[in-house]
Amino acid sequence: MICRLNPPIADWSGRRVWIVGASSGIGAALADALLNAGARVAISARRLDALEQVAAGRATACAVDFDATDPTAWPQAFARVLEGLGGLDLVVLGAARYEPAHPWDFDMEKVQASFELNVVSVYRALTVVVPHLLAQGSGGIALVGSIAAYTGLPRSMIYGATKAALRNLAESLYFELAPKGLSVYLMSPGFVATPMTSVNEFPMPGLLTPSQAAERMMRGLERGRFEIRFPRGFAGAVRWVSRLPDRLRFWLLHKATGM
Ligand SMILES: NC(=O)c1ccc[n+]([C@@H]2O[C@H](COP(=O)([O-])OP(=O)(O)OC[C@H]3O[C@@H](n4cnc5c(N)ncnc54)[C@H](OP(=O)(O)O)[C@@H]3O)[C@@H](O)[C@H]2O)c1
Repeated sequence: MICRLNPPIADWSGRRVWIVGASSGIGAALADALLNAGARVAISARRLDALEQVAAGRATACAVDFDATDPTAWPQAFARVLEGLGGLDLVVLGAARYEPAHPWDFDMEKVQASFELNVVSVYRALTVVVPHLLAQGSGGIALVGSIAAYTGLPRSMIYGATKAALRNLAESLYFELAPKGLSVYLMSPGFVATPMTSVNEFPMPGLLTPSQAAERMMRGLERGRFEIRFPRGFAGAVRWVSRLPDRLRFWLLHKATGM
């Protein structure tokens, strides 16, 4: 069987999109861009006040606050989204935490919390969203990964591993859901200036603003790409390095990161 790419999206007007992780950063900017393009958008995260700021004055936005790590919250949140939007065409799963750590100094609670949010909550989302989209016979699921998924990096032993899990998960989902008429996307951002990266004390090559990141996500979705990777130059370089032979790859990464 030949897998096809996702169908392109020609027009956002009236499309019903649920973004989880939309109270700040990339998710908030994507919500803004989608609303400007005419979509109806449900925005989720824990902080209702921040969600209400993103939705302020937009008749086609609805805020659905919940904790994505709470297993019982997903069915209720999804019911609120369906009520608010009148259905669902696309879900973007971007809630995540970033815990830089060294192998000699890490906290198991942070490991558990990171996997619970960055990975397990995505499976929880799938339990509510996939049956609905399959019954409908259309719709899309976008996982927000990272270029940190391509290769192990210094201080990335927790975050990078969660994003590598999502990369593999997105590929598995694509194999099984695309033939059933659903779209699956893997977003692979490089560095974006958000509250998440504000803790970084190192230079971040190719740093984008959240609205630049949102613009690239929209274009990737519109073109029906599976992986939506940006910025092109830096993300492409990391991907290229990740495919080099081990010795050369580690040598180059030591040089590049200074670690
Ligand atoms: N910034 C980058 O350079 C970069 C690069 C690659 C990938 N990414 C990915 O892009 C996505 C967005 O990141 P960002 O940089 O925009 O960071 P951000 O501004 O910190 O956004 C994280 C979002 O996740 C939400 N969230 C956190 N814990 C949650 C929970 N338990 N339940 C529900 N929502 C929760 C936060 O809202 P509340 O605190 O209100 O819950 C917030 O809306 C993440 O998946 C991140 O890994 C970012």
